[in-house]
Amino acid sequence: MKKILVFTAIASSLLFAKSEMQTCKKCHPLIVEEFQNSMHKKSSFYDDEIHRAVWNKHPSKEKGDYSCAKCHAPHGTSEEEIQQGISCSTCHTIQNIEHHAQSDSNIYSKESKTFFSAEQGRESQKVTYKQESSFFGLNKTTVGSPYHDIDYTNEKFYTGQVCMGCHSHRQNSQGFTLCKTEESGAKHRENNCITCHMPKIKGSATTIRKTQKHAFHGFAGARHNPKMLAEHVGLDFEKTKNGFSIAVENKAPHDLLTHPLRTVELRVNLIRGGKTVPLKTNSFAKTIGYDNKPSMPWLANSVVSDTMIKADEKKIVAYDTALHSGDTLEVQLGYYIVSPEVLKDLNLDTQDELKKFTILKQRYFTIE
Ligand code: HEC
Ligand code: HEC
Ligand code: HEC
Ligand code: HEC
Ligand code: HEC
Repeated sequence: MKKILVFTAIASSLLFAKSEMQTCKKCHPLIVEEFQNSMHKKSSFYDDEIHRAVWNKHPSKEKGDYSCAKCHAPHGTSEEEIQQGISCSTCHTIQNIEHHAQSDSNIYSKESKTFFSAEQGRESQKVTYKQESSFFGLNKTTVGSPYHDIDYTNEKFYTGQVCMGCHSHRQNSQGFTLCKTEESGAKHRENNCITCHMPKIKGSATTIRKTQKHAFHGFAGARHNPKMLAEHVGLDFEKTKNGFSIAVENKAPHDLLTHPLRTVELRVNLIRGGKTVPLKTNSFAKTIGYDNKPSMPWLANSVVSDTMIKADEKKIVAYDTALHSGDTLEVQLGYYIVSPEVLKDLNLDTQDELKKFTILKQRYFTIE
């Protein structure tokens, strides 16, 4: 008897997992299409090769304790649930967030068919579906969704707090903080995680109630659609006594890149008389380690070095190359997803895709 119960529980959650996105797709096709290509959908060790590479070396793997699931695959511990990664209902049922030292936790609402969302002008509404007929029944207008109810009253969907249960911070078992995202990015309605990473772009949010725009669900980030974030980074040039300087401005309310695997680089090429000469490259990274030597994150107890460009920081980098009239400078700010010196340690050195340098922003300056 017990066996049968367990079996049906798994079978029905499987059914739900497979069908959830298919169901949403009927009425939210654009959003689902964007989402399928995002790192939230691909967050488990099945779909994210970098996450898998770190997990394969992690001491918890031998114990079969996929502790990463809390954020990387919150639906449960079965194979199908892990494969699902983060889903539509993961975010849209986050009611509250609990603060803890190790990492924060999402409190999910028990009402699986009521979704929280945000829309300007509807902040006080809870919408249950109804069809309203006008006096003679000639015009029918529909309100809400025929599939689910919507609760627009959750403040966390307006400030970006909804993102913080997973993104705020994470400590390893030594109590050492591996990564963090400052609270200040999830406080203001005009400028927060959602306004930058889910900008409103063309296309209707639903097929039923047409809108001009919808919130981008591909979640622009380091791995997908970085160019959508380029406007939040500034690159400027100034002539100095001995040469010139380049200012890099991070307008994000968090480290330019938050994950300790990344390395940011500023590259400058001098184009003179038809020839391109690379000048010095500057690297920005945060290296964590054990007793001041770089280590895997679960062993780390200290920050070995930290030159990462901080929240709202403007870094000025000086160059002592004298410039001539007619010179052009090609300035590139970009990054490696996995710092080149770590690729081998993670057995990722065979993957050409990960050796690529991604340019986030590029500018040219011509000397008069
Ligand atoms: C049968 C059609 C239908 C299906 C299926 C459906 N929705 Fe909706 N949904 C709608 C409509 C219509 C609206 C807009 C309601 C309004 O604006 O009054 C909506 C609105 C929403 C909103 C809030 C939008 C806002 O205005 O901020 C969210 C969130 C949402 N749906 C999520 C989902 C998810 C997740 C699924 C799949 C589990 C899903 N929907 C399945 C029709 C549907
Ligand atoms: C508290 C939530 C949380 C937990 C628990 C967690 N992660 Fe993450 N992880 C994140 C977030 C958020 C990111 C996105 C990058 C960032 O914010 O720095 C991420 C990114 C990563 C990345 C980079 C992936 C990429 O696409 O480049 C790796 C690797 C990773 N995590 C490994 C792990 C492993 C291994 C575990 C379990 C031992 C784990 N994480 C547990 C939240 C978490
Ligand atoms: C249930 C946990 C969870 C929630 C809630 C969550 N995230 Fe994430 N997010 C993650 C994890 C885990 C990753 C890393 C996935 C990976 O690379 O394996 C991630 C990655 C990202 C990335 C990097 C994408 C890329 O291409 O590099 C961005 C940007 C992001 N999240 C933004 C947000 C925003 C904005 C919100 C709130 C609307 C949010 N996240 C809510 C867990 C979460
Ligand atoms: C002013 C715009 C802005 C705001 C607000 C903002 N970000 Fe970002 N975010 C950026 C930029 C720019 C990058 C760098 C993108 C790149 O290099 O590809 C970034 C990168 C990220 C990444 C990828 C980090 C990595 O190492 O892979 C995550 C995750 C992320 N942001 C989450 C958040 C969360 C969560 C919030 C809210 C607390 C937030 N962001 C608020 C602009 C913003
Ligand atoms: C990482 C968290 C997260 C995930 C996962 C997520 N959403 Fe959303 N979604 C949000 C947030 C936050 C908003 C509110 C954006 C805003 O300010 O309008 C939103 C808005 C919406 C809207 C209203 C869009 C608009 O522009 O009015 C719909 C519809 C929706 N989501 C459906 C979905 C569907 C369907 C999925 C799965 C394919 C999904 N969401 C996955 C966080 C998420």
